Amino acid sequence: MRIIAKHAAGKVLKSDGFQISADAKLAKKKDPSIIDGTLGTFYFEDGSFKTFQTVHKIMNQLNDEDIYLYSTSDGGPAFKEAILEWAFKHTRKEIEASLSVAAIPTPGGTGALTSAVFNSLDPQETLLIPSPCWGPYVGIALNRAFKIEKFFMFDGDAFNMKGFVEKSEKIIATEGKLVVIINDPCNNPTGYNMTKAELEAVIDYLNTKKEVPCVLIYDCAYIDMAVEGMKKTRENMLAFTKANENILISVAFSFSKTFFIYGQRLGGQILLSKNKESVMEYYNAANYTARNTWSNCNKGMIRVLEEMTKSPALMAEYQQELDEVIAVLNTRAELFKKEAKQVGLQIYPYQGGFFITIPCDNNMLVSEKLVEEEKIYLLPFDNSVRVAICSLPQSDLKGLAEKIHRVIKKYN
Ligand SMILES: Cc1ncc(COP(=O)(O)O)c(C=O)c1O
Repeated sequence: MRIIAKHAAGKVLKSDGFQISADAKLAKKKDPSIIDGTLGTFYFEDGSFKTFQTVHKIMNQLNDEDIYLYSTSDGGPAFKEAILEWAFKHTRKEIEASLSVAAIPTPGGTGALTSAVFNSLDPQETLLIPSPCWGPYVGIALNRAFKIEKFFMFDGDAFNMKGFVEKSEKIIATEGKLVVIINDPCNNPTGYNMTKAELEAVIDYLNTKKEVPCVLIYDCAYIDMAVEGMKKTRENMLAFTKANENILISVAFSFSKTFFIYGQRLGGQILLSKNKESVMEYYNAANYTARNTWSNCNKGMIRVLEEMTKSPALMAEYQQELDEVIAVLNTRAELFKKEAKQVGLQIYPYQGGFFITIPCDNNMLVSEKLVEEEKIYLLPFDNSVRVAICSLPQSDLKGLAEKIHRVIKKYN
């Protein structure tokens, strides 16, 4: 007798980043010389984790009602105002002039992705994702009986437009619609930033499919970690203003990353389209999904976002803290990239963010041998291993490329 539902039977979380990272953390407690480059959380050079002081300051000023009461499933008008300000900054007017816009809070970026995928596909339809990509994209699809198709992300050092189009054509031919996730900027796992021209090329291609409903899920979890800063990253999103009526863009925003509030669970789903009805339909479905799945989101964090967005002084304080984080990330990336070049270790194109990724076919064996022979914990991704520079101080990064290179040469 099998008690569990058919759709749930056999589902086991395997090779999950959280689990591998917990193992690495435990091992490091016993042996501090272990290098733990597994999880995407920012640690300062002294090995400490801290959220932003500006976040703390606002939290400390909130009263019990602000923190402990329910919020509404749609977040309310003040949330909408705050997230649109944050997500689009100086481009907001231009975005709103050419597209209908709606927004709803979600438990992290994961909630925004889950809701977007769930409300875009019917069972047995296909989600297109890049390879390599963040692992849960696969589970988000498979958990709800959707299929996945992958396209390789790179053509040399650029976005693989040809691969993206080939796989899109195949899905469109059989299913008559296209739903794709793109993670940009500071792509996880590679650190790649798409250029505005590349984003425009994606939109231009979808525009040619006039009769085909297309959903572009733009996962911008690490947008605020980009070296280029908030102005440039928002300007790139102006590419969306070119999208025709057949396209709906669902932006997945993660305050886990932007505010370093990982376990507090706040994100947002922003819906954009020239087709006003589609935006309203998606918004209503997202609100229905929210109320009947997680009910509502972290009220305290919603209030932090609202307060910070309203206050130029608080924004300036946060920006100063953020600039320091980005400078640290940049120094770490430069160090690793320089040493990788010196020893001839190939990496995927990196422009910013938390991770640098090394192509290697035998990723599982290489990950195991890195632990056994060098006490280095990294996460295996599709044909690659990922170094979380966000969590490694420069003292750990120094010499790391050489050790990884040695193991890859031996076992790949
Ligand atoms: C690429 C990517 N997208 C989305 C998320 C979701 O973040 P969260 O749900 O923690 O906000 C993550 C988190 O690691 C990520 O790496």
